[in-house]
Amino acid sequence: MTPILDVRNLAVRFGPTLAVRNASFTVQKGETHCIVGESGCGKSVTALAIMNLLARNARRDAQAIRFNGQDMLAYSDRQMEDVRGNRMAMIFQEPMTSLNPSFTIGSQMIEVLRRHHATTRHEAEQRAIALMQRVGITAPHMRLGQYPHQLSGGLRQRVMIAMALMCDPELLIADEPTTALDVTVQAQILRLLAELKQELGLGILLITHDLGIVARVADHVSVMYAGEVIESGRTAQLFANPAHPYTRGLIDCVPVPGKIRPGEALGSIPGTVPVMKDGFSGCAFRFRCPQASEVCTQAVPRHALGSDHIVHCHLAPSQGAGQ
Ligand SMILES: Nc1ncnc2c1ncn2[C@@H]1O[C@H](COP(=O)(O)OP(=O)(O)OP(=O)(O)O)[C@@H](O)[C@H]1O
Ligand code: SF4
Ligand SMILES: [Mg+2]
Repeated sequence: MTPILDVRNLAVRFGPTLAVRNASFTVQKGETHCIVGESGCGKSVTALAIMNLLARNARRDAQAIRFNGQDMLAYSDRQMEDVRGNRMAMIFQEPMTSLNPSFTIGSQMIEVLRRHHATTRHEAEQRAIALMQRVGITAPHMRLGQYPHQLSGGLRQRVMIAMALMCDPELLIADEPTTALDVTVQAQILRLLAELKQELGLGILLITHDLGIVARVADHVSVMYAGEVIESGRTAQLFANPAHPYTRGLIDCVPVPGKIRPGEALGSIPGTVPVMKDGFSGCAFRFRCPQASEVCTQAVPRHALGSDHIVHCHLAPSQGAGQ
């Protein structure tokens, strides 16, 4: 089946800084694919590169970024604008960055639909109301006339989701959509995204730093470190058999009821993500890896550990050919 999104060897640089390197992953229809990793590892830059919304000082290179089989690298600006916000929508971590404080919720939702589709104002308003109801916003008529600052953080995030759905997208990219929310609202929003995926057959690319969220909602996961996907696979398989020391370190940081006793400290990964510059070689995790050795200064092989499970590490056992 042709994936909705197929990213091949994406690289993004800001001058000599390599923010993303060799990132490859796919998102299928009706699937949630999570990109997980610590702050600064290149998650948001990856999302912005797909949407072609990178800052001016960025340079994007890729073998292909295919949307439903079509390579978006060959798209004109006009073609990209047609797709963005329409067939491919994005939800940002901080809704206030994408909601305009000077316009009502209603006018912004209606504008999204009318930018891409010929509809009357009334039809657009009806769709906005129906979607607001669908995402659990009560009294949608009243909300249409309100400004973003009049809504709570949870409501604003629901508005963002409703707005992203206005044009009936096939792919939803959600960058840390629940980080700013308290845990109850976070759980509601995650449940909502899972329902929408089922109901609408959406493909969802969900970006998070939280493996707990990945365990709850992801079908597939790509673990990023210093701009690279260092391990990827189906969620159950990756959690049952994490092969990369970084993935294992992240999993040890997640509280598991029964495993962690009250008062017992969780694991942590000492150090921070290094900034990659031109000329770097070897494994970027070697400065923090408990299993690092001399060989880790050399180019890291890719190992296939079974269908869909891939890891980049010198120590990883290989099932099938290393690639
Ligand atoms: N406009 C820019 N100019 C220069 N460097 C940038 C720019 N945008 C991002 N970067 C760099 O790219 C790297 C990856 O940033 P990115 O925002 O993708 O991280 P992230 O994984 O989303 O982190 P977080 O979890 O904190 O959101 C960082 O080192 C960042 O400093
Ligand atoms: S390649 Fe070496 S340093 Fe990198 S994760 Fe594997 S063992 Fe650790
Ligand atoms: Mg980010």
